[in-house]
Amino acid sequence: MAEELKVNSVLKKDKYAEMYPQIKALLEGENDLIANMANICSALKYGMNFFWVGFYMVKGNELVLGPFQGTVACTRIAKGKGVCGAAWQKNEIIIVDDVEKFPGHIACSALSRSEIVLPVYNSKKEIIAIFDVDSDALASFDKTDEEWLRKTIALLK
Ligand code: SME
Repeated sequence: MAEELKVNSVLKKDKYAEMYPQIKALLEGENDLIANMANICSALKYGMNFFWVGFYMVKGNELVLGPFQGTVACTRIAKGKGVCGAAWQKNEIIIVDDVEKFPGHIACSALSRSEIVLPVYNSKKEIIAIFDVDSDALASFDKTDEEWLRKTIALLK
């Protein structure tokens, strides 16, 4: 079902393919991590019509809210907690079709129904942040989102 999702009547995979070079161009010539994260959030929030897009920065033993677009969010997440903390601890991408069925999910907004969470790596393959994209619909994310969002955050240097 998710494969058929459309953004303003354009197929999701086509919209990602259209947006990726635009985001790449947006980041070119700027090496500030926070500035580039902020622009990725804005481009994806408005381009893909996501409910919430943001980064949680690794700071010591917890994740701290970084650049985001969307409603106000919780500021700190401990390792292993919620979807973001689990993705950090397990070092893996997590797709959640129904957040109410994910044990320990942290509900920043009651409107968030499904999400995809990806680790962000530095050049030493260390996790420096967690990228969190939320939808107000169930089961919004699949391998297409995983592929394109992974490519997009890999643009961060
Ligand atoms: N969904 C996250 C919490 C962050 S908010 O959704 C913005 C989680 O459970 O890790």
